[in-house]
Formats: sequence, C-alpha cells, structure tokens
Amino acid sequence: MRAAILLVLVGCAEPVICDDAPPTTWDNFGAGFITENCQSCHASTSSNRYDAPVDVLFDGEDDLWEHSADILNVATGDRPIMPPRGGVSEADRERLEILLQCSQ
Ligand code: HEC
Repeated sequence: MRAAILLVLVGCAEPVICDDAPPTTWDNFGAGFITENCQSCHASTSSNRYDAPVDVLFDGEDDLWEHSADILNVATGDRPIMPPRGGVSEADRERLEILLQCSQ
C-alpha cells in the first residue's frame, strides 16, 4: 500500500516534458551541447569570457548539475538569454530541458 502511494507521488513529480522524451544524457547530448554553445565563454580555459561570471564555469558534467537551475532559467523556456547571441535551435533547447528535468 505504502509503495503504491510513493509511486503516485514520484509520478507526479516528474514534469510532463519527460513523457515519451528521448533518452538524453550527458554523453549523448549534454557534453556536445555545452561544448558547442557555452564553453567558449564559460570554460575555465576560455581565452575570452566576454565577461561571463568567473563562478559560472562549465567544464564538465558536475558543473551542469551544479548549475542546472540557472541553466534552465537562462537557456530554456520562452525567452532564453544564453548564449547571448542565440543560435541554438528550438529542438536543442528542448533536449537540454529534457536532460536537466528528466535525467537526474
Ligand atoms: C558569448 C559568451 C557567452 C556564451 C557563449 C554563453 N554565455 Fe552565459 N554568460 C555570459 C555573460 C557575459 C554572462 C553574464 C551576464 C549575464 O548574466 O547576462 C553570462 C551568464 C550566465 C549565467 C549566470 C546567469 C545569472 O543570472 O547569474 C548562466 C547560468 C549562463 N551564462 C549559462 C550559459 C549557458 C547554459 C550557455 C550555453 C547555452 C551560455 N551561458 C553561453 C556569456 C556567455
């Protein structure tokens, strides 16, 4: 009985976006996405950060999870502000959201 209640709670906690979402991981999506779209300014080794904050570093998977709430805020949703010059497809932004919301 108690297990059934727990299952219902867990089911509710998972966002709708996760239903039928393609399996999305750091290895099959996140690493490439961050490298391509974010690391030019946010890697610790970046040669020109364009004033990206020194404490917002994306070097590897741990950084993604550490900053997941902020990344969701600035890089997904209706009005993303990162990267500052845009250029990320809608499909990739959705995939990023799936990774951050459903894969942990
Ligand atoms: C061209 C350089 C550049 C790129 C590329 C870039 N950023 Fe940024 N980022 C900045 C700058 C500059 C700031 C600080 C100014 C600001 O917050 O608008 C910033 C701030 C942030 C912050 C902190 C925001 C806050 O409110 O504290 C996050 C999180 C972030 N970026 C995530 C990302 C993600 C995720 C990507 C890739 C999808 C990305 N950035 C790509 C330059 C960049």
